[in-house]
Amino acid sequence: MPEYDLMSDFTSPFWAWYIFIIVAGSIIWLFYLLMTQNKEKRNTDIKPTGHKWDENLEELNTPLPRWWLQLFYATNIFAVGYLILYPGLAVFDGVLGWSSVGAYNEEMEAADKKFGEQYVNYLKQDVAELAKNKDALTTGSRLFSTYCTQCHGSDAGGGPGFPNLRDGDWLYGGDVAQIKQTIATGRQAAMPGWGAVLGKDGVKNVTAYVMSLSGKKTAGDLDAGKEKFQQLCVACHGADAQGNIALGAPNLTDQTWLYGGSRRSIEKSVADGRNGRMPAFGDFLGEGKVHLLTAYVYSLSVDN
Ligand code: HEC
Ligand code: HEC
Repeated sequence: MPEYDLMSDFTSPFWAWYIFIIVAGSIIWLFYLLMTQNKEKRNTDIKPTGHKWDENLEELNTPLPRWWLQLFYATNIFAVGYLILYPGLAVFDGVLGWSSVGAYNEEMEAADKKFGEQYVNYLKQDVAELAKNKDALTTGSRLFSTYCTQCHGSDAGGGPGFPNLRDGDWLYGGDVAQIKQTIATGRQAAMPGWGAVLGKDGVKNVTAYVMSLSGKKTAGDLDAGKEKFQQLCVACHGADAQGNIALGAPNLTDQTWLYGGSRRSIEKSVADGRNGRMPAFGDFLGEGKVHLLTAYVYSLSVDN
């Protein structure tokens, strides 16, 4: 019997026996059916069964063609053999001990053995050096496609809430060490929501002030907005509103917006807050892959 407590989906053996009874029952039923439906002797006692549609069309009890019958037996025997060797009956693991998890682990181990050496070699090299190494970047871009594109886009251009990684503009800093730390340990941004503190007009005024910092105009009292900004926002975004990479607080004076630079998006950022999260990949991918990904990400903005 397999261990059920390892599979949270199946906490009781009920479904295992359910599968077993259906599978084993079907095979036994098919054997029975094949044997009982094949009693008539070939060419001797072929008779009508009594089903008659019209004068020219009636059903006879002709035996099943031999080749077909034997093929059917063979597939049934194959099924029994297969279910003895491999896990298909749910209550029995199969004598070969094969499992999809085991097969996956074996493949991963083989791949690690094969590529591990390569990563060790890369680890000995500087990121800046690797960022010029074509082979390293090819591998890096493949890793990026596998682990990063679902959030940052296939061209690393980002999207609302997901930073562009090729524009040279960094929330958490673009040094090799900073990029590596971002990838290895992840980042969690914490921008509180100010809707309740500021009220509707307050949000409107602060938004107008924030927009004015990058040269855009909208309705709102700029002086009142500036006052609130000095009170509530400079702790993270800085007195000059140019941001703080230790907190991932964006520069609010440039034209680059993580969540969009329209009045509506900024109002939403200010009123509801934002909590972008970059997952940590260090434990999952290991040092070698993180090193290579750092080189790849670093190369994207150095080229530009
Ligand atoms: C506790 C620190 C903190 C305070 C205080 C703070 N912010 Fe933020 N702010 C952040 C962080 C961190 C982000 C990035 C959020 C993310 O990446 O999900 C952010 C994001 C923003 C954004 C979105 C920028 C973009 O590029 O889309 C705006 C706009 C903004 N803040 C305005 C303000 C205003 C206005 C105030 C004051 C009312 C304020 N913030 C107060 C930390 C702070
Ligand atoms: C689940 C979505 C997600 C995945 C997957 C993801 N990221 Fe991120 N990443 C983010 C978000 C969101 C941020 C911004 C966090 C914030 O708002 O402060 C970010 C930030 C970053 C930054 C910092 C950018 C800056 O301006 O400082 C880097 C570098 C980065 N990611 C690289 C990667 C790499 C490399 C991978 C693949 C190994 C990856 N990310 C996978 C969501 C993701």
